[in-house]
Amino acid sequence: MPEMPQMKKIPIEELKPGMVFTRTVFGDNYEIIAEPNTPITSKDIENLKKKGVKFVETTGELKGVVKIQEEVPLVDRVESSARELMTFYKSLVDSVESVYTNYKVNKEILPEKVVNIVEKVIDKISEVGDKNVFLNLINIVDKTKYLPTHVLNATILGLLLGKEINYPESKLKLLGTGILLMDIGMVFIPMSILERETKLTDEEYNKIKTHTVLGYKAVVQENNMSPEVGRVCLEHHERWDGTGYPRNLQKQQISEYARVAAIVDTYEAMTRKRVYRDRMMSFEAMRAILTEGSTKFDPDILKVFLRMMSVYPVGSYVMLNTRAIAKVISSDPISPFRPVVKVVYDEFGTKIDDGETIKLSEETKIFIVRPVKEEELK
Ligand SMILES: [Fe+2]
Repeated sequence: MPEMPQMKKIPIEELKPGMVFTRTVFGDNYEIIAEPNTPITSKDIENLKKKGVKFVETTGELKGVVKIQEEVPLVDRVESSARELMTFYKSLVDSVESVYTNYKVNKEILPEKVVNIVEKVIDKISEVGDKNVFLNLINIVDKTKYLPTHVLNATILGLLLGKEINYPESKLKLLGTGILLMDIGMVFIPMSILERETKLTDEEYNKIKTHTVLGYKAVVQENNMSPEVGRVCLEHHERWDGTGYPRNLQKQQISEYARVAAIVDTYEAMTRKRVYRDRMMSFEAMRAILTEGSTKFDPDILKVFLRMMSVYPVGSYVMLNTRAIAKVISSDPISPFRPVVKVVYDEFGTKIDDGETIKLSEETKIFIVRPVKEEELK
């Protein structure tokens, strides 16, 4: 009678990536870790360790150790971190949407939820450490859910700007909360007006203007939140030269947070498709803010904003939607998202010496997915 093959226990510490056994390798619940003649990967070992498994079993023999290519290609690494950020962003859009809907239905703002969203953005900005990643993110995201994406993008921009102004965490929180809630009064404006494709009547426009006062009441009177937050709702449409609404305030009469909000609100609104105009490209938005807008915003804050928006410095690297990685060879603060780039790695992550030069301002189908840090190229 043939002898039953003996199960051998192999401690996890002895497992090495690339080990190949002659028979199947099992985990502690007899799940298959590796088929016969198939190398064990470092990912398998990592997973086993994570689950606290102490050993694996097999009736086979160690056949040898093969060298396996486990390095994740550069383009995949860059792409997966971009995807992760996109998932983070989408979950925030959902949270913001539920804050606005909840207020519409229950008249309740849930301040903890709002502050929590703001804190998440602040933490993510510190974690990623590169403002350009976010400037790029809000430039490429789907903006169909109008209100939630508008206020979220404005909040991200406002927090980046607040950091550039060197606000401490406490000020950042107030600023972010204010911007996130600035359009809460809009929930009372009929969708028929908000989504109107044709020009609004004076009466309809006046109705839209009430969102500022309604927002202040919602925040301060109905929900006992800080008046500093309420003033962002009330004053984000006031303008430095006194031409805004609802009270024609000017200069320092407008709260500082509302002056920051005015810039990021205007910029964000200009870079999306809106009633009676096509989506303005970001560089056109920037040009508009620079020219006709120069008297409308706090000049000191505007200066910081414009400096912040020079997104892709010459010499930095970016990933394109073609999966190629390119180097920025010239950039223009007026068209911050569409510099001239030269491809240095192709879509498979292979280094190319004489890559194509692309003028992104002239290529409508190619855009930057995210900046790439130099360390990532190694
Ligand atoms: Fe507004």
